[in-house]
Amino acid sequence: MVAYKSKVVERIQLPSRERRERALEQAGYNVFDLAAEDVFIDLLTDSGTGAMSDEQWAALLRGDEAYAGSRSFDELESAVGEVMGFSNVVPTHQGRGAENVLYGTLLEDGDVALNNTHFDTTRAHVANQGADPVDCPVARAHDLTVDGPFKGNFSLDRARSVVDDVGSERVPLVILTVTNNSAAGQPVSVENTRRVREFADEIDATFVIDACRFAENAAFVARREAEFADAEIGEIAREQLGYADALVMSGKKDGLVNAGGFVATDDEALFEKCKQRAILYEGFPTYGGMAGRDVAAMAVGLREAVEEAYVTDRIDQVRAFAAMLEDVGVPIYTPPGGHAVYLDAGATLPHLSPDEFPGQALVCALYREGGVRGVELGSFAFPGTDRPELVRLAVPRRTYHDEHLEHVAETAAAVLETRESIDGLEIASEPAVPELRHFTASLEPISS
Ligand code: F0G
Repeated sequence: MVAYKSKVVERIQLPSRERRERALEQAGYNVFDLAAEDVFIDLLTDSGTGAMSDEQWAALLRGDEAYAGSRSFDELESAVGEVMGFSNVVPTHQGRGAENVLYGTLLEDGDVALNNTHFDTTRAHVANQGADPVDCPVARAHDLTVDGPFKGNFSLDRARSVVDDVGSERVPLVILTVTNNSAAGQPVSVENTRRVREFADEIDATFVIDACRFAENAAFVARREAEFADAEIGEIAREQLGYADALVMSGKKDGLVNAGGFVATDDEALFEKCKQRAILYEGFPTYGGMAGRDVAAMAVGLREAVEEAYVTDRIDQVRAFAAMLEDVGVPIYTPPGGHAVYLDAGATLPHLSPDEFPGQALVCALYREGGVRGVELGSFAFPGTDRPELVRLAVPRRTYHDEHLEHVAETAAAVLETRESIDGLEIASEPAVPELRHFTASLEPISS
């Protein structure tokens, strides 16, 4: 049941079909290059794109902009303590700032980091230290159609075989990403988290949880893990996060803010090291690259994220959106995750081979048809890897209503009707770094 009503609204409009065609062409068939005002329903990301509550806007005004010892920092510290159970916090400008601070402290050249699946900035920060990021998803994670309660889990078998190969002394870091964004936003069970803790102890590694979507994960645990059937979201979150030595957090997700992030830990020695690195890259440790008002809003957002009514509405909205798409026959990754619905572009456009970028062709078709912006996560974004051809439609928090999502389903249905005529794409120009090509490369239709 919906847990909020609108107090401020923002005008949006569907540009004419002609304008959409022109905008797409001018953007080089890359939706990252579209002007946001040319987009009607923007599902590019759930990161920093949500609506803040009236309480958060009020907190913004009360933000304390002191360089050192800001009251807003004290508020963040108590929110992180009460909601997540950690006593030391180092604020950063966003999640990747936290990754730089923590992974720059924990990793050295030649190390190996294990993760259920590295998100792309995580992978890049691990690699930036000269270390090797190795994914350990469970086998089901990349099966688009099999049902399963916790397809985001960390595979201990896979992790043990990596350790057998490289030796435990090369593996100082084990990361668990909840929910598993790169595996369609699938949740991780608390039981799996306990096993990962034991494994990290066995190999004497630091155990970090990437907690970006910790509240959504806790909501899935409440529904799917029998032991927690009667537990409150806040209790589950504290239990799960409590197994880690440290957290990296992007406040732009379950911090319910438009900017911000942090590292949290109870380990005093690690805290000291992170603070020193934060001063170098982020700012003094009581603001860390954030305005004091944003710190204050994030403190409120963290508490709101674990409210039962908020987070239930959140994952139910994504589930209802998935059902709308399935009802019109769109092949999707099942079950839907916590923040997005992932479309199976390979099954939608079977006449296109991976080198004709079916995912990107679908992204362009959705925009052309209905002004909807999603993001490709297939052979265009991950060149040279053997990934399914997915398109992510991420749902910003507390932003769109059922009518908006119905428009997306109607758009997808219209695209399905003309699917045989959808052309593949080829790269027209691309940047030097292949891992980042989907942000800035331009494409053109193959038949042009
Ligand atoms: N970790 C995970 C699991 C993420 O999903 C993200 C961001 C980050 C770290 C980095 O956080 O953006 O605040 O620097 N994910 C966004 C997305 C960008 O669209 O999924 P950030």
